[in-house]
Amino acid sequence: MIGRLNHVAIAVPDLAAAARMYRDMLGAEVSQPIDLPAHGVSVVFVVLPNTKIELLHPLGADSPIAPFLARNPSGGMHHVCYEVDDILAARDRLKAGGARVLGDGEPKIGAHGKPVLFLHPKDFAGTLIEIEQA
Ligand code: CO
Repeated sequence: MIGRLNHVAIAVPDLAAAARMYRDMLGAEVSQPIDLPAHGVSVVFVVLPNTKIELLHPLGADSPIAPFLARNPSGGMHHVCYEVDDILAARDRLKAGGARVLGDGEPKIGAHGKPVLFLHPKDFAGTLIEIEQA
C-alpha cells in the first residue's frame, strides 16, 4: 500500500544551524526557511536525490513540535512520510487493521498542499508516520 518515502522530518532547536550543517558539512541542497503558520512550524527543505529531509522548528505558541523538542532538546527524528495513492482507502484499511489515526481521522492539507494523515507511533514501532496522497 505505501509507496515512496516522501520525507523524513527532523525537529531542530536551531533552524539556521541545522540548515548550515546539512549544507556545509553534509553538502546538501537546502531551501531558505519557510514559515508555515497553519502547521505551527518553520521548515527548511533538504533536497536529496531520492527523497527530502524536512528540518522543523516550532513557530508560534502552540506548535505541535514544541513538546517533542522539550523532551528532545538537541532535536531528533520526528516522523517519516510515506506516499499513498488513495488516502481515504489507506485510512480505512489501517483502521480496519487496528491502527489509530490521529486527530479526527479526516485528512488535512499538509505542508506540500496535499492531503495527509498521521498514525499513532505506538502502533508503528515507536515511529510517528505521516501518509500523504501523492
Ligand atoms: Co511531514
